Amino acid sequence: MSTGFSWFVVVGTLGSLLTFFLILYLNRSTSNPGKTTGHSYDGIEEYDNPLPAWWFWGFIITIVFGVGYLLYYPGLGNFAGLGGWTQTGALESDQQQADERYGPIFAQYAAIPIDELVHDTAAMRMGRRLFATNCSVCHGTAGTGSAGFPNLTDSEWLWGGDAEQIKTTILGGRNAMMPSWEAALQDEGVTEVAEYVSQLAGREVDPTVAEAGKARYDMFCVACHGPDGGGQPMLGAPALNNEIWLYGNSRLRIEESIRHGRNGQMPAFAQRLGEDKVHILSAYVKSLQL
Ligand code: HEC
Ligand code: HEC
Repeated sequence: MSTGFSWFVVVGTLGSLLTFFLILYLNRSTSNPGKTTGHSYDGIEEYDNPLPAWWFWGFIITIVFGVGYLLYYPGLGNFAGLGGWTQTGALESDQQQADERYGPIFAQYAAIPIDELVHDTAAMRMGRRLFATNCSVCHGTAGTGSAGFPNLTDSEWLWGGDAEQIKTTILGGRNAMMPSWEAALQDEGVTEVAEYVSQLAGREVDPTVAEAGKARYDMFCVACHGPDGGGQPMLGAPALNNEIWLYGNSRLRIEESIRHGRNGQMPAFAQRLGEDKVHILSAYVKSLQL
């Protein structure tokens, strides 16, 4: 916060406290039972009795508490407070406490191989909670994904479905690189190769167009998607020879993928969650197939 704004806050806050105190002090009524304020409405008059002592002192204590609080905690502009309290510090100490408390539990699960861990109901309940907090925004609460965000419950994998491959995906993240083919293929080439891709997927197509598409496929696409469209998990290239589509199953979406390319990004979680939690999550993702 800028120095000017800091002073604005300091003066505003302390000024209000002081004003509050002055109003209270200057208006305190000396004990004078029966004295009225002089106001009279329809013959009804108003006593000017002193505040009850507990109320008066209640206000004083509030003011003193307020001043003490503002001295100890950061509240007065840029003044950091004498207690050294910060929001990030509080978060860090909470996280440290949580790590100390739950760390050993996670570590215990981390020692169990993923293929065994999938059958541990307590661990999988923990996995479901971790998934709901960290993954469901993109992959959906049930892990079924949506356009651009892969379904984790089916049998098709971009980057491989072995326990270790899944763990590598979650720890380090993944960047898919499907180049744009618009310049190389032109409109006609995109249509032809899309026709051939549709044929690989088992759809009914125009054989002559698909044949022309195959020639282009063998030239441009084989390296990543494989000779029969089986995909290549090393590159995150999906299989094209089935009806599971990451970016939608319509012909329009398929052509869009080819024309403009796709760059799906799975964020890395090694830093954010640590390896033990990722281990449990990997088992949870595996358990979605069961
Ligand atoms: C910001 C969105 C986002 C979040 C959050 C996210 N993912 Fe992903 N994830 C993706 C995308 C996008 C891909 C596909 C990347 C690609 O196109 O190759 C992906 C891919 C994956 C894959 C590989 C799927 C395959 O077919 O090989 C796994 C496994 C996975 N995510 C698990 C997780 C887990 C577990 C979490 C939570 C810790 C998580 N993801 C959080 C976006 C996300
Ligand atoms: C450099 C490797 C590479 C080459 C070459 C390549 N692709 Fe891809 N392709 C990918 C990757 C990686 C993805 C996944 C993109 C993602 O996950 O965001 C992909 C995705 C696709 C998709 C979307 C699939 C879906 O499930 O929605 C189609 C369709 C596709 N490619 C067709 C082609 C065609 C046709 C060619 C040749 C003209 C081609 N690709 C060439 C790597 C490649």
